[in-house]
Amino acid sequence: MKKIKSGIYGLNPLLDGGINENSTTVVIGCSGAGKTTFATQFIRRGLELGQEAIFVSLDENKEQIIREAVEMGWPDILRYLEEEQLVFIDASGREFSTFIRKELPSFVEDWKGSNARIVVDPLTPVMWSTKDHYEQRDLISFLLKQTRKVGTVLCTLEEHGTASDLSGSETIIPMYLADCVMHLRYRAMEGGAYRMLKIVKARSTRHSELSHPYRIIKGLGLIVQHGEYRVDDSRTIPMELESILKSSKLPASVATHMAKTLGELTDGDFEDLPAEELVKYILEEYL
Ligand SMILES: Nc1ncnc2c1ncn2[C@@H]1O[C@H](COP(=O)(O)OP(=O)(O)O)[C@@H](O)[C@H]1O
Ligand SMILES: [Mg+2]
Repeated sequence: MKKIKSGIYGLNPLLDGGINENSTTVVIGCSGAGKTTFATQFIRRGLELGQEAIFVSLDENKEQIIREAVEMGWPDILRYLEEEQLVFIDASGREFSTFIRKELPSFVEDWKGSNARIVVDPLTPVMWSTKDHYEQRDLISFLLKQTRKVGTVLCTLEEHGTASDLSGSETIIPMYLADCVMHLRYRAMEGGAYRMLKIVKARSTRHSELSHPYRIIKGLGLIVQHGEYRVDDSRTIPMELESILKSSKLPASVATHMAKTLGELTDGDFEDLPAEELVKYILEEYL
């Protein structure tokens, strides 16, 4: 799986190197959590690398988003827009099912295969455009399928209510459909905000399962702290275990597969499971 740099400081090591190219990511959080900032940062990183970028806004208008980006300390956005390396689609106030089913496909046809970064901020109005869950699912699924033809997709999603625990019904369908889901948990508090990022799922990625404090700093954007998380690629699995598997009476194809699998694991995969114990379970299953 090819990784691309997310642009979010501190995040890539928590995602085994970055976001999978050509995947779909949903960033969920309540208002003020930093979703638009996250999306802009992701896009800016691509622009820096020479990739093209498309910002689809379904909520705020173009001027608002650009003004916020400039205020955040990213005036270079203006130059990218002028040079058309960054394209802005303002779909705020539109009829979303028409926009997604009719206008989006012809746009995608023009951009197909351009390996751009594409942001949809936020998906929420699509969820609100119909009460029918099947229609919601169809629309979101169609939108993700279309946009990923263009490149790597990042959508944001508003979380409502005070719980900030992903229990809202509006998050279920996008969470289910996306390849990668990140939750920005945010609460304004006296004496400073509480902000925690958690990777809820990331397909085909070994990722952190912890909650990570993050902050937002002008000119930088989101910065995610690693905390207790250690990127562990050390390896202390005894070689004998691989030879035990190979010399056991396991079916040859299983033995080959297991030896290869064990050879690629690191201590981080095992955590507190002793390697000997794992081998015992494998042998028990087949012998
Ligand atoms: N110029 C800025 N300098 C520092 N922090 C900022 C700036 N602008 C916004 N922020 C921080 O970013 C947060 C809003 O981020 P935003 O991405 O608009 O959130 P969301 O899209 O989730 O509603 C604010 O709550 C504030 O803490
Ligand atoms: Mg926003």
